Amino acid sequence: MIKKLVAGNWKMNGGLAANEALLAALRPVSGVDVALCVPHPYLAQLQRRPPGFELGAQDVSEFAAGAYTGEVSAAMLADFGCRYVIVGHSERRALFGEDDATVARKACAALSGGLVPIVCVGETLDEREAGEALAVITRQLAAVVEVLGKEGLSRSVLAYEPVWAIGSGRSATAEQAEEVHAAIRAWLVEQGVDATGVRILYGGSVKPDNAMELFAMPNVDGGLIGGASLVAGDFMAICRAAGV
Ligand code: PGA
Repeated sequence: MIKKLVAGNWKMNGGLAANEALLAALRPVSGVDVALCVPHPYLAQLQRRPPGFELGAQDVSEFAAGAYTGEVSAAMLADFGCRYVIVGHSERRALFGEDDATVARKACAALSGGLVPIVCVGETLDEREAGEALAVITRQLAAVVEVLGKEGLSRSVLAYEPVWAIGSGRSATAEQAEEVHAAIRAWLVEQGVDATGVRILYGGSVKPDNAMELFAMPNVDGGLIGGASLVAGDFMAICRAAGV
């Protein structure tokens, strides 16, 4: 059985004082890996975080070093002790023009720099209603396999985040999530990827009251948590739901 991972995605939220208060309220949870993916400027502050919390970032440059103003490299994230970095979040795809190929190159840069990419995939509501959800997700994944190779993908974490469920309060049902997660795993196997140990997280309006049901699904290996990761009590409850 795969050990679950719960990753908090703070997005562009936080402040030195607010972060201190949040960190002070976090407690280690057994039986689950937990990571905090914070904005780049707070990586230094998060050097002092409660035990049992791994560090992650929300984006990484596709380039290794050099004249790329404003970019942050995988090596810099690794310097600060990051283990994970989110790549291809739907907000980056939709608002910052990241296409499948860019996401794949970022995932590759992350792996090359010693980080574990959390590669996000997911369909919009229009795509789901048109019956295209799986086609979209496998297209997004195929671009990543092409660049990372099968072995690289088997060392990555995937996150299924239906765009319509993110920040909307409308989570996918546990059955909807499981259907997609199982299809993703089957697709990986079809591609020749060793998918037995690949963690597939679900993200999109995970809250304390739906976490247990989602995490009980056989192919849901944890969660990527946005809004609820900013509320210590909610985040802890979600982590505990994954640790049972
Ligand atoms: P949400 O965000 O939990 O606020 O829906 C999830 C995400 O965007 O990773």
